[in-house]
Amino acid sequence: MERTYLMIKPDAVQRGLIGEIVSRFEKKGFKLVAMKFLRLTKEMAEKHYAEHVGKPFFAGLVEYIISGPVVAMCWEGKDVVTVSREMMGATNPAKAAPGTIRGTFAVDIGRNVIHGSDSPESAERELAIYFDSCEFVEWDRSVQAWIV
Ligand code: TYD
Ligand code: MG
Repeated sequence: MERTYLMIKPDAVQRGLIGEIVSRFEKKGFKLVAMKFLRLTKEMAEKHYAEHVGKPFFAGLVEYIISGPVVAMCWEGKDVVTVSREMMGATNPAKAAPGTIRGTFAVDIGRNVIHGSDSPESAERELAIYFDSCEFVEWDRSVQAWIV
């Protein structure tokens, strides 16, 4: 099953949006398989955003992403890479469709609330920055009957 790396960025954590954002992916039907609350080091941030080295926004982007804690997550499901990107909305929140996460909660491209991998290959690369293989939890949502 396809996996993606999603990360709730420092602005969203500070604004109290963790639950709201996680809830959208749960309700959509995707499966959470790993989750961590941490503050990125500069080295991790530079590795995460390696494809943007040299771009004018790079320094500010790194500064922002290390400015406070983030929620690092691995989510699993059918076409989760593409579908989660659609749920996030366009990179520039001003252009993100209303109802999407960025369209609902953000206005500034440099404070756009959430990161999501742009391909299954990027997902594998990014997940390896944040998680050891033993941290991906195998579980089944369909079996437990907590309420009888
Ligand atoms: P990018 O990978 O292009 O966007 P996405 O997060 O949708 O995959 O860019 C990474 C982040 O860099 C983006 O979320 C916000 C920031 N950014 C800027 O601040 N200015 C820019 O002009 C661009 C393209 C991105
Ligand atoms: Mg990207």
